Amino acid sequence: MALLETRNLTKEFGGLTALNQVNISIDQGELVSLIGPNGAGKSTLINTITGMLEPTTGEITYAGTDIVGMEPFEIAQLGVGRSFQTASIFPDLTVRENIEVAAFATEHDSFSVNFFRRRDAYDDVRARTDRVLEVIELEEEADDAAEALPYGDKRRLEVAIGLATDPDLMFMDEPTAGMSPSETDMTVSLIRDLLEEQGMTIFLVEHDMDVIFDVSDRIITLDKGEIIAKGTPDEIRDDPTVREAYLGGEEV
Ligand SMILES: Nc1ncnc2c1ncn2[C@@H]1O[C@H](COP(=O)(O)OP(=O)(O)OP(=O)(O)O)[C@@H](O)[C@H]1O
Ligand SMILES: [Mg+2]
Repeated sequence: MALLETRNLTKEFGGLTALNQVNISIDQGELVSLIGPNGAGKSTLINTITGMLEPTTGEITYAGTDIVGMEPFEIAQLGVGRSFQTASIFPDLTVRENIEVAAFATEHDSFSVNFFRRRDAYDDVRARTDRVLEVIELEEEADDAAEALPYGDKRRLEVAIGLATDPDLMFMDEPTAGMSPSETDMTVSLIRDLLEEQGMTIFLVEHDMDVIFDVSDRIITLDKGEIIAKGTPDEIRDDPTVREAYLGGEEV
């Protein structure tokens, strides 16, 4: 059984069809990338799966559970995490506090139903935050204000915020956008670590084709809300439709 599956997923904004009958399937332990031109619907797909947007029609199942209509925190509790394309950081909080806030968000349920679990829940949040700081290599910066971080570290903090909910499946929306080559390398090795050491399943949206071809097991290409190609990196590299729509026909 696939870990995550969408069936005929459609999202309309007024007259605009941002996603049109999208079928994707992600297996446990895979890294699946999503590519496509600006406005193709990549972020909309992530937002719809993670519960920020409700689909117009279609089905989404995670580990066999129908997740359409669930709140984002409920989907996070099931084990689906995400990092954002645009900043989700609280600039005045420290690095540690930013991760704790995100970690607390998935404890929401236990707070509301069981007062006596509070203490346990807080210990759990602390432990999870420490683990994320270690994985993401931001331990030394833990008590710095988030706004004081260099750009690349800020972007890694955004990934850390996604990791704070302890996901099995992680959505990353352009984690290397605007990064220097060395910051990009660091992020690629972090992605590998999450995949290989932490056993995570990753769905990656990325414009950097070197990163895509380097880390992906499979690549899905979206154009104007529709899937135009799916395949291994080699298959996608050679696909004439992808070249035309996305790579501008250029050799890669
Ligand atoms: N909340 C919204 N309300 C109305 N239209 C939206 C909304 N979010 C996205 N859109 C539109 O849906 C289409 C898909 O946008 P989306 O942000 O998903 O593209 P994308 O593939 O992530 O692009 P990019 O590579 O620039 O990040 C675009 O035409 C966009 O303007
Ligand atoms: Mg986007």
